[in-house]
Amino acid sequence: MSHDNHDQSHSTSQVFSSTMKTFVLPVLVVVGLVAYIAASFRPQVVTTSNPNEAVEARIQKVGAVEIKDANRAARSGEEVFKAQCSTCHATGAAGSPKFGDAAAWGPRIAKGFDALMTSALKGKGNMGPQGGGNFEDYEVGRGVAYMANAAGAKFAEPKKPEAK
Ligand code: HEC
Repeated sequence: MSHDNHDQSHSTSQVFSSTMKTFVLPVLVVVGLVAYIAASFRPQVVTTSNPNEAVEARIQKVGAVEIKDANRAARSGEEVFKAQCSTCHATGAAGSPKFGDAAAWGPRIAKGFDALMTSALKGKGNMGPQGGGNFEDYEVGRGVAYMANAAGAKFAEPKKPEAK
């Protein structure tokens, strides 16, 4: 009986030890590897003096785009018009001078390009600054020239300023 008992306990410890080797150890190794790899993927800690900025930087959408990107292609007057100004000026909505309407544009064109440019940048009457758009100033100027020229003016499209 005692012999049997010894045998059984021996075999139990053998089973335990082989279980350790075949199952537990590999699992521990895998868990360790996963933890190691996961640690290397942890996002960089953003250090900045402003804690709110740090939070914003961390919760920023992936691939967020800076709208006024200096490197993006400059928009032409027509593109600015189609993207923004046409909302009102295509039809004369909100009391705006309609695209191509020489009678509506004539007295405005007579004020000169700079005056029109100022109105477009700062807003006038029912028109908000940049007509509600978010462009570089010279792009708004191109929109102004595009619309005014379509109604009889001969303004030159402003060039993109040299990079600072
Ligand atoms: C929300 C409608 C709206 C949008 C969008 C809009 N405009 Fe206007 N715009 C107006 C209205 C209304 C007027 C007439 C304002 C007045 O004389 O009181 C006007 C007038 C103008 C004038 C004549 C200003 C003057 O001094 O006589 C220019 C130039 C002009 N818009 C350019 C633009 C350009 C460029 C864009 C696009 C970037 C644009 N607008 C987008 C409504 C709009």
